[in-house]
Amino acid sequence: MPAPEQPSFERDVRPLFRELDVDSMSWLLDLTQRDQVAEHADSIVTQLEIGSMPCDGSWDEEQVALFRQWVAAGCPE
Ligand code: HEM
Repeated sequence: MPAPEQPSFERDVRPLFRELDVDSMSWLLDLTQRDQVAEHADSIVTQLEIGSMPCDGSWDEEQVALFRQWVAAGCPE
């Protein structure tokens, strides 16, 4: 049986961020850049889990789970 593919930043995580997210968060980090998202991964997970980010409505549980999986896999590119 093939091993389950691990999530990738470019293919799976990057598309979760809308232009609004990227623009709104540019004061803190660039959500289009894997290294910066990886650096802030813990606080991003916290915000997603408590539902305070994005500011205009929280993510579905599947989206949060995908982001968590990406972090658990070591934030692969
Ligand atoms: C998936 C999208 C987003 C992510 C992952 C994200 C992530 C974060 C993170 C990690 C912080 C820092 C929280 C802390 O540690 O104190 C933050 C703060 C903040 N974000 Fe976002 N954000 C997103 C979208 C947005 C959007 C759409 C808006 C508004 C249009 C927004 C507005 C803000 C503001 C105003 C703060 C400062 C809040 C405070 O310090 O009280 N963010 N966000």
